[in-house]
Amino acid sequence: MIRVKDLSFSYTRHPFLENINFTVEKGEIFGFLGPSGAGKSTLQKILTGLITNYKGNAIVNGVECKNHDSNYYENIGVDFEFPSLYDKLTARQNLAFFGSLYSKNLRDIDELLKAVGLFQDGDKKVSDYSKGMKSRLNFIKALLHNPDILFLDEPTSGLDPSNSRVMKDIILEEKRKGKTIILTTHNMVDATELCDRVAFIVDGKLKALDTPHNLIMSKGAAKIKYTYMDEREEIRECYLNQTSEDIKLMELIKNNKLLSIHSLEPTLSDIFVEITGKGLV
Ligand SMILES: Nc1ncnc2c1ncn2[C@@H]1O[C@H](COP(=O)(O)OP(=O)(O)OP(=O)(O)O)[C@@H](O)[C@H]1O
Ligand SMILES: [Mg+2]
Repeated sequence: MIRVKDLSFSYTRHPFLENINFTVEKGEIFGFLGPSGAGKSTLQKILTGLITNYKGNAIVNGVECKNHDSNYYENIGVDFEFPSLYDKLTARQNLAFFGSLYSKNLRDIDELLKAVGLFQDGDKKVSDYSKGMKSRLNFIKALLHNPDILFLDEPTSGLDPSNSRVMKDIILEEKRKGKTIILTTHNMVDATELCDRVAFIVDGKLKALDTPHNLIMSKGAAKIKYTYMDEREEIRECYLNQTSEDIKLMELIKNNKLLSIHSLEPTLSDIFVEITGKGLV
């Protein structure tokens, strides 16, 4: 669905995005992960046809992005990092206006508003919306024309946990319908849950690309942590692949004396730091 080959781009004389290569299959949720300023939104702007002076190839649905015509937007939905809505119009008027730009049949506006908990506020002006309400409205705006490819730039950023859950469930529902989704985030928990594959992007370069599971398993052997009662509660750790060599652990198991036992897999955040040498913010 998306093929990026030897892609490079610069806002200035200095190279910024350098030699980016990846493909995204139909029906996949593909994550762009990286710290602030890494180039995630820039990459998304190229794929959505907003930046055209790049080198290499960025092909979306068979179209080289820089050569796109207006038809291109019939089949992609974009949830921009910063909401782009008309403040003086109500939510319903915004959706009706943006919907009128497409020739396709639209989804039911009330159903979309209901899905993100905005039905009751549909006739309120966007200027009276809170930040999270604007984010949710901006998100359903991307779904309005039922596109096959969705570009979502930090859709859950700044949302409370229950609204964030609602958005994630909608994203998973879109995937079930066969949509292809590019998800930009610096939230590793969301990425681990939602993405089939993730690309780590740092300083305009792609540093790793794999499934969250493979990335997590690729580095640092998993450990277990166990506790038992001696004179007081004791805690020990050992590598998961060396449990039989841990005499204390074997003895505790034999005598049913373990108080607790947990496995300690690294998180995607740990792996990100290990691979890129950088944190996520
Ligand atoms: N229009 C522009 N002109 C010049 N430089 C820009 C422009 N837009 C972005 N940049 C620069 O490009 C770099 C990458 O920006 P980008 O928005 O792609 O980062 P990001 O990974 O999306 O970060 P964040 O997580 O903060 O959204 C930054 O250094 C930014 O200052
Ligand atoms: Mg960004």
